[in-house]
Amino acid sequence: MTIIITGGAGFIGSNFIFYMMKKYPDYRIICLDKLTYAGNLSTLAPVMGKPNFRFVKMDICDREAVYGLFEEKNPDVVVNFAAESHVDRSILNPEIFLETNIIGTSVLMDACRKYGIGRYHQVSTDEVYGDLPL
Ligand SMILES: NC(=O)c1ccc[n+]([C@@H]2O[C@H](COP(=O)([O-])OP(=O)(O)OC[C@H]3O[C@@H](n4cnc5c(N)ncnc54)[C@H](O)[C@@H]3O)[C@@H](O)[C@H]2O)c1
Repeated sequence: MTIIITGGAGFIGSNFIFYMMKKYPDYRIICLDKLTYAGNLSTLAPVMGKPNFRFVKMDICDREAVYGLFEEKNPDVVVNFAAESHVDRSILNPEIFLETNIIGTSVLMDACRKYGIGRYHQVSTDEVYGDLPL
């Protein structure tokens, strides 16, 4: 099983990578991240040397690069954590939020459709998905 995890140098994505690599040591995990102010490569130091882990510095909005990676790696699953997530910053610079959160998501979904990826997970917030009745 090969999984592309985008935004994996961020808060939740990095913890998801640690969880998956521990629980499924046979899976091949590829982390795609642009390393914005929110991403920190040193967070991934515990998994960086592992043979089944690979880090790729890439922007999810870069359609050509994303298609190239999907073609090369042929993932079974894609999980998207890459986002502009700091709401306060959207007031200062809304455009980057539209680019990453909307265009970037669209590029990933197009890539999944183009390369027949069986499963795509879009990580988002309760503002988008709504509340669970817990
Ligand atoms: N942190 C929370 O408490 C929380 C709660 C609910 C939902 N979420 C959602 O989970 C997701 C991840 O949140 P987080 O807190 O881990 O975010 P984060 O800001 O810590 O990390 C985002 C990661 O995405 C990368 N990134 C940003 N733009 C990119 C681009 N164009 N291409 C590739 N990589 C890019 C950054 O470099 C960073 O590593 C977001 O959708 C967020 O809304 C987070």
